[in-house]
Amino acid sequence: MKALVYNGPGKKALEERPMPALQAPTDAIVKVIKTTICGTDLHILKGDVPTCEAGRILGHEGIGVVEQIGLAVTDLKKGDKVLISCITSCGKCENCKKGMYSHCSHGGWLLGHRIDGTQAEYVRIPYADTSLHKLPESVDEEAAVMLSDILPTGYECGVLNGKIKPGDTVAIIGAGPIGLATLLTAQFYTPAEIIMVDMDANRLEVAQKFGATKLVNATDGKAAEKILELTDGRGVDVAIEAVGIPATFIMCEDIVTAGGVIANIGVHGTKVDLHLEDLWSQNITITTRLVDTVTTPMLLKTILAKKIAPEKLITHRFALDKILVAYEVFGKAAETKALKVIINAL
Ligand SMILES: NC(=O)c1ccc[n+]([C@@H]2O[C@H](COP(=O)([O-])OP(=O)(O)OC[C@H]3O[C@@H](n4cnc5c(N)ncnc54)[C@H](O)[C@@H]3O)[C@@H](O)[C@H]2O)c1
Ligand SMILES: [Zn+2]
Ligand SMILES: [Zn+2]
Repeated sequence: MKALVYNGPGKKALEERPMPALQAPTDAIVKVIKTTICGTDLHILKGDVPTCEAGRILGHEGIGVVEQIGLAVTDLKKGDKVLISCITSCGKCENCKKGMYSHCSHGGWLLGHRIDGTQAEYVRIPYADTSLHKLPESVDEEAAVMLSDILPTGYECGVLNGKIKPGDTVAIIGAGPIGLATLLTAQFYTPAEIIMVDMDANRLEVAQKFGATKLVNATDGKAAEKILELTDGRGVDVAIEAVGIPATFIMCEDIVTAGGVIANIGVHGTKVDLHLEDLWSQNITITTRLVDTVTTPMLLKTILAKKIAPEKLITHRFALDKILVAYEVFGKAAETKALKVIINAL
């Protein structure tokens, strides 16, 4: 089968690989229909994720059809259409029983990281009963791909942790796929204002179409001041960090109002200053989270009911044998205006 393989920092190739085989009775083999590329795949390629070894097939998102199941898989059968969760979970360990699948003792973020992933014609999924979600035939397949990672991430780490309430003023820093997924799902709770912050004018324009009420371009380094102006000096009830750099977390510290929440989504690679000398008296809450994908079944219902249309995030489509071009386009998002790219594996 064809697969996109990480061959060490800066190196990737479309290679011919053997079909995956069942390794445990709880495994399933899934024939991939559609997959996508995540910003995290670019981090791996830069060498930022040392736990991902050379030779790994990348990809942790996608939908497919069950090809084969292990003897202990009870809820799935050959031919079922399924959503592949970016988080693998056994469903039985202490953390899984708390709904914290991201910290499953036997799972967590495995796909395209510690085991071969979805940017291939077939993928092996451990603990298939809990790590796959059955999809109805009628589902919009491209919308469903957005459920593997970005929608639960935006919703769980941003919206739920941020405790967004009706009437709140919310700022989302970063209008990438994750920030935009947060924007879509924040609207379940009817906040009064959603201020979207980015440096990319195209992404801000997309955010406006997706329901942002105010836009702030951060290119001049004065985003925090502008947000304070927009809120009459009060700041925001919920500041959501969806970039992953010190400057944007500190922006959240500068704009959160008394009693507010800073919900961090971004993956941080360097230390960030926490200004407790200013914040100690402000009754604020700071949250962090690795996506658990525990809300995926709920989010699937909102897609089936057409309450959100995440397929609008898709800007480009490629066949699997053109995945190197897809990486090129996705990696130059500022020029190509790429948000999510769909890779068709069938
Ligand atoms: N917590 C989790 O479980 C989890 C899961 C998935 C992704 N993530 C992380 O979420 C973050 C966002 O992911 P993404 O795929 O949307 O990334 P992305 O790189 O596509 O988007 C980030 C956006 O931030 C903007 N930006 C950069 N610097 C800025 C600044 N100084 N001010 C304002 N905007 C700025 C960029 O223009 C870009 O549009 C990443 O750090 C990613 O690793 C976290
Ligand atoms: Zn991802
Ligand atoms: Zn577990």
